Amino acid sequence: MIKKKNESRIMHSFSIVATIFVLVTTSVLGNSTQLSSTFYDTTCPNVTSIIRGVVEQAQRNDTRVGAKLIRLHFHDCFVNGCDGSILLDNADGIESEKDAIRNKGAEGYDIVAGIKTALENFCPGVVSCADILALVSQILVSENGGPTWEVQLGRRDGRTANRTGADRDIPTPQDNLKLITEKFRNKGLDSTDLVALSGAHTFGRAKCRFFVDRLYNFSGTSKPDPTIDVEYMKTLRQTCSQGGKPSTLTNLDQATPDAFDNYYYKNLQNNRGLLQTDQELFSTSSIDTVSIVNRFANNQSDFFDTFAQSMIKLGNIRPLTGSAGEIRADCKRVN
Ligand code: HEM
Ligand SMILES: *[C@@H]1O[C@H](CO)[C@@H](O)[C@H](O)[C@H]1NC(C)=O
Ligand SMILES: *[C@@H]1O[C@H](CO)[C@@H](O)[C@H](O)[C@H]1NC(C)=O
Ligand SMILES: *[C@@H]1O[C@H](CO)[C@@H](O)[C@H](O)[C@H]1NC(C)=O
Ligand SMILES: *[C@@H]1O[C@H](CO)[C@@H](O)[C@H](O)[C@H]1NC(C)=O
Ligand SMILES: *[C@@H]1O[C@H](CO)[C@@H](O)[C@H](O)[C@H]1NC(C)=O
Repeated sequence: MIKKKNESRIMHSFSIVATIFVLVTTSVLGNSTQLSSTFYDTTCPNVTSIIRGVVEQAQRNDTRVGAKLIRLHFHDCFVNGCDGSILLDNADGIESEKDAIRNKGAEGYDIVAGIKTALENFCPGVVSCADILALVSQILVSENGGPTWEVQLGRRDGRTANRTGADRDIPTPQDNLKLITEKFRNKGLDSTDLVALSGAHTFGRAKCRFFVDRLYNFSGTSKPDPTIDVEYMKTLRQTCSQGGKPSTLTNLDQATPDAFDNYYYKNLQNNRGLLQTDQELFSTSSIDTVSIVNRFANNQSDFFDTFAQSMIKLGNIRPLTGSAGEIRADCKRVN
């Protein structure tokens, strides 16, 4: 009897100590954004090879897999932090971000679902959808010729979406450089991050509707943008005729469309940037972005190193950690 009492007292004080420990660690770790590259080392040690297996299969059929998924990661992180919110479908209390104007035409959701299914088979309930986006971005950048980096992990998935936030915070090609810079600064990203991350337009495609005004009616002048390289203008007009299909796709980097390299910056130096917001990084008399474009155009390793650092900063935007949020079983809906 006495022994039992003692035991339960010991257990009781142990649980108080344990509770205090949990409270202290979550208040320390939960508030700061403590992610770690070793987060799944014991709980899902081959998370990387499982994801690689799925995307290598998908890439055989679609060279744009990397472009699609890194764009989803970017659009996820800019809305309520990197919490997988972009992946949620409409439901009770969820206004899907997929329906935001800024996300119209975003693709790759089915590939994320395939990755999630594979991961749930090996380590159920462990890897968050937000981490899938961060990790698969690194895997595919590197497989397309770009840098590798240690992806920080441990994000948890949000239980809400924010459609109006998506339309407010995600940049559009119509924004001027000042506004783009502000949108990045609001997320803790500086001009170097802006120029480096824009380098993701080294692969993937864009629809005519995002730049056709530059070809025929620049800033409402009924004339083309006079600064576009003449040959490039000809090529673009062939792809995107006036009044033609706005959904026709063209390469964001016409020099090396599917390779992750620094031609994006060389294109800008040659007035061959596709989107207005791409070209402005070089053509606006803004000392800081122009010199960064030149740096990256002249030195691909410099671009790769900086891109890796900026991706880590992007992935660190307000993640949910500790016991916040959840690990979704299906990326399309909350548990
Ligand atoms: C700086 C402001 C940015 C603007 C205004 C912008 C805008 C756009 C637009 C309009 C498209 C074409 C979408 C379509 O045709 O459906 C696009 C594609 C793309 N964007 Fe951006 N973007 C920006 C920054 C970024 C960043 C920071 C990343 C990643 C780190 C990124 C990655 C991509 C990729 C990879 C594609 C091609 C996607 C595909 O092929 O499906 N963009 N972007
Ligand atoms: C993951 O690890 C387990 C156990 O170590 C192994 O059986 C399995 O084949 C691995 N899967 C992949 C895709 O590497
Ligand atoms: C290949 O891609 C096409 C179009 O994106 C899709 O319809 C088809 O199901 C894919 N095939 C495989 C084997 O993934
Ligand atoms: C949605 O995003 C907007 C714009 O960033 C923000 O002001 C708002 O607080 C967010 N709403 C929710 C419910 O998180
Ligand atoms: C050019 O754009 C302006 C303003 O966006 C518009 O008012 C005008 O009708 C357009 N002109 C042509 C020829 O499409
Ligand atoms: C290019 O960048 C790398 C990495 O930042 C740096 O170590 C190297 O010195 C640079 N090379 C030149 C020629 O500036």
